[in-house]
Amino acid sequence: MNDRLASIRQEILDGIEAHVESRAAAFELRKQFLDSKTGKIGQLLKEMKSIAPEERAGFGKSVNELKEWAQQRFMELDEKMKAKELQRRYESEKIDVTMPAEGVITGNLHPITQIRNQLIEVFTGMGFEVVETREIENDYYNFTALNTPKDHPARDMQDTFYLSPEFLLATQTSAAQIHTMEKKKPPIKMIAAPGKVFRSDDDATHSPMFHQLEGLVVDKKITLCDLKGMLDVFVKKIYGEEATTRLRPSYFPFTEPSVEVDVSCFACGGKGCKLCKGTGWIEILGAGIVNKKVLENCGIDSENYSGLAFGIGLERTAMLKYGINNIKLLFESDLRVLQQINDN
Ligand code: PHE
Repeated sequence: MNDRLASIRQEILDGIEAHVESRAAAFELRKQFLDSKTGKIGQLLKEMKSIAPEERAGFGKSVNELKEWAQQRFMELDEKMKAKELQRRYESEKIDVTMPAEGVITGNLHPITQIRNQLIEVFTGMGFEVVETREIENDYYNFTALNTPKDHPARDMQDTFYLSPEFLLATQTSAAQIHTMEKKKPPIKMIAAPGKVFRSDDDATHSPMFHQLEGLVVDKKITLCDLKGMLDVFVKKIYGEEATTRLRPSYFPFTEPSVEVDVSCFACGGKGCKLCKGTGWIEILGAGIVNKKVLENCGIDSENYSGLAFGIGLERTAMLKYGINNIKLLFESDLRVLQQINDN
């Protein structure tokens, strides 16, 4: 009998020595000996019956000693495995803080979005509120209410995509003037953005879809001076402190007088270069004093109130500011181009 106890003891020692690498394996090994039903030590106790009565007490004592000894060994083994596993985890999770960091590639906003955000910031800074525009308008809002009735020759200025005789893709953001003045009484100070507009027009500087930002101010005694003052702030913020504006007479049915606004060439400072075609000035937007007929179409008393309006092309602004020579580059999603323009 004592031989069996000794051999179990040796088996335990060998087992521990041999291949225990984890707590799970240690637990399995422990079960082989100490499981109350199937363990080898438990089995010994069941054999008590077959032992001569005078030897039973001594045997029981020896088995119990073996059991306690085994429990102690397996407890130590478990502790050892616990420490080993922790060590393994520390090693696998080790971070070398002296390693050079991996570069993080971040995206940037599309140039049109950047310009739009910059313009919104400039104009909200001057107290403008932002309204949204519609991509589909009806004939009344896009033309008639803007003093451009059906047979008006100015309709030819914009090659319109008609969806039906009544509905069309907005050719300009100016319809937002009408929507705003119908909803709100003066004082009004709004910009309409983002402003997707559509015209059947396609070359290096024109795209059938492009973006405008419309501005409208209606209050008592609004004049061209207010317009020039606001646009001067705008060009300085976008093209640099040196930039100034000049107004040239023009024509839009919904403004009277109408002006074409030029910015002093920010590339040559006005001396004359390729960008400004030697003139020192670059045309950037259309604007004017809101035509009285338009105010009246919206039920605003044109004797007491006057307004100014302007429409800025975002693609044109981006092309000038970032030196882009073909409008298509703004729509091709070529990352080599887009990644170069990060102004935010
Ligand atoms: N809607 C005009 C255009 O698309 C621009 C404009 C807006 C002109 C507001 C005057 C006032 O060309």
